[in-house]
Amino acid sequence: MSDARNLPGHSTTGAGAPAPSDRNSLTVGRDGPLVLHDVHFLEQMAHFNREKVPERQPHAKGSGAFGVFETTEDVSRYTKAALFQKGCKTEMLARFSTVAGEAGSPDTWRDVRGFSLKFYTSEGNYDLVGNNTPVFFVRDPMKFPHFIRSQKRLPDSGLRDAHMQWDFWTQNPETAHQVTYLMGDRGIPLSYRHMNGFGSHTYMWINAAGEKFWVKYHFHSQQGVKNLTNEEAARIAGADADYHRRDLFDAIARGDHPKWVLSVQIMPYEEAKTYRFNPFDLTKVWPHKDYPLIKVGVMTLDRNPSNFFAEIEQAAFSPGNTVPGIGLSPDKMLLGRAFAYNDAQRARIGTNFHQLPVNRPKVPVNTYMFDGHMAYEHAGNAPTYAPNSAGRAWADHTGAVDESWEVDGSLVREAYTLRQDDDDFVQARALVRDVFDDAQRERLVDTVVGTLKSGVRSPVLERVFGYWKNIDAEIGERIEAAYGTH
Ligand code: HEM
Repeated sequence: MSDARNLPGHSTTGAGAPAPSDRNSLTVGRDGPLVLHDVHFLEQMAHFNREKVPERQPHAKGSGAFGVFETTEDVSRYTKAALFQKGCKTEMLARFSTVAGEAGSPDTWRDVRGFSLKFYTSEGNYDLVGNNTPVFFVRDPMKFPHFIRSQKRLPDSGLRDAHMQWDFWTQNPETAHQVTYLMGDRGIPLSYRHMNGFGSHTYMWINAAGEKFWVKYHFHSQQGVKNLTNEEAARIAGADADYHRRDLFDAIARGDHPKWVLSVQIMPYEEAKTYRFNPFDLTKVWPHKDYPLIKVGVMTLDRNPSNFFAEIEQAAFSPGNTVPGIGLSPDKMLLGRAFAYNDAQRARIGTNFHQLPVNRPKVPVNTYMFDGHMAYEHAGNAPTYAPNSAGRAWADHTGAVDESWEVDGSLVREAYTLRQDDDDFVQARALVRDVFDDAQRERLVDTVVGTLKSGVRSPVLERVFGYWKNIDAEIGERIEAAYGTH
C-alpha cells in the first residue's frame, strides 16, 4: 500500500477511500445523536446485516482443506479421464461435514460424515460428493427431503428427536444397512483424518476406446480408521464443539498432511445386468470378493484455507460436475442429485457461484451462461448466442453419447426390480454378524438402546425391535431385552 492514507492502522470504505474511524460514529457533539450521513457507519451496519449466506440445508457444519491427488497406477484401460492417467497430479479441495447438525453444531454428534472432493482437472472440475460410508439410507431421491427433515428438528419445539428419526427409519426398511453403520463404531469418527471416504454411488468410467465400466470409489485413510465412544464424544461435544475442525486445521498447519489412498471396484458393463444385487442400489455394497479393490492413487491435503467463508462456506460441490471419461449411472439417487446441488448453490450463494475463485475451474471457460447477479467473468462483446457468425466456439455434439446406458419401459413410479440376493436386510445382517465382533455388537446394542431411551414411544418403539430382529434375530432380542432392563 503506497498511499499514505492506507498506512497500516488505517482501513478503507468498500469504495477504497480512507475510513474515518472504526470505533467512533459521527455524532452531534460528544454526547449527541448519530447523523444519517455517517456513510461509513451505515455501510458497516448494512453489510453486517448481510454477512451470512444461508447454511447448506444438509451438511451445514463442515471443514475443508486443499491438496493434491496423484494417480500412481495405470488405470487407463478403464477410464480416459485426464486426472486418472498415471503420473497426473491434480490440485483439489476436500470438505468434510456432518449431515444433520447446523453450522455451529458439535462435530462429535453421531452422524454420517460428508466427504466432498473437487478436482481442478485439465478438463474442467470433477466433483465427487460422497460420504464416509459406502451406502445410504434411501434409494429413491423422492424420499431425501423427508429423510433429512426426520433427522433435523421438530416443527414446534425446535428440538432434535430420536422418535422422529426411528419413525422414518422403521417405515423405510431399506435404511437398515446405513443405520447399522451409523449405530456402529464408525458412527462417530475420532477425526476427519481418521475416516475412510466413499463415492458411495456406482459411476461409469469410459476408456479411450469407448468401452464402459461401472465403478465405485474407496478412499482409505492412511492415518487409520479410529472412532470415539459415546462417552468420549459427549464429553468433547461439550468441551470443544469444533473438535474435528480444529484437528484438521492444526494437523495441516503443523505439516502433518493427511493422506488417503484411492482404490476402485470395477464391474464390467454387461455384468450389471445379471449381478446378484442391483449394482445401482445405493443401500448395497459390492462385496470385495466379487469386485476386488484396484489401487488408483493418493490424495494429500496440505494447505489450509486462508479464508473459511470464501473458500469453504462458498465452496460448491455437485455430483453433476463430471469430466470426459466419467459418467453417472442409472442410480436414481445419483440422477436426482445431479439436479439438486447447483440449484441449492444458486439459492445459497448466488447465480454466479461458479465464478468464485474456489469454484472456478483452472481451465478457460467459454460458457453461454450470461450476466446475472454479481457477474464478474464475461466474454466481453462476444456473441451471447450460438450458433453465431463471429467465430465464438459453441458445442454441437449430435447422436450417441459416451456415457450412456440402455433403458426401456413405460413411465412408472415404482421401486427398483429386485435381484436374486436383494432384500433390505441381507447386507445389514452381514455387517452385524460377519464384520462386527462381540465388543462392537455390545456397543451397538448400547447405542441403539440409548437413542430409544431418549424419547422413542409406541408404536415406533415396537417397530424398532422388529426392525432389528429383521436385521439379526439375536441382536433384535438383545436390544429389546436391554431396553426393558435399563
Ligand atoms: C437425492 C438425494 C440427495 C439430495 C437431493 C441431496 C441434496 C443435497 C443438497 C441440496 C446439499 C447442499 C448443497 C449446497 O448447498 O452446496 C447437499 C450436500 C451434501 N450432500 Fe447431498 N443430497 C442427496 C444425497 C446424498 C448422498 C447419497 C450423499 C453421499 C453419498 C450426499 C452427500 C452430500 C455431501 C457430502 C454434501 C456436502 C457438500 C459440501 O461439502 O459442500 N448427499 N446434498
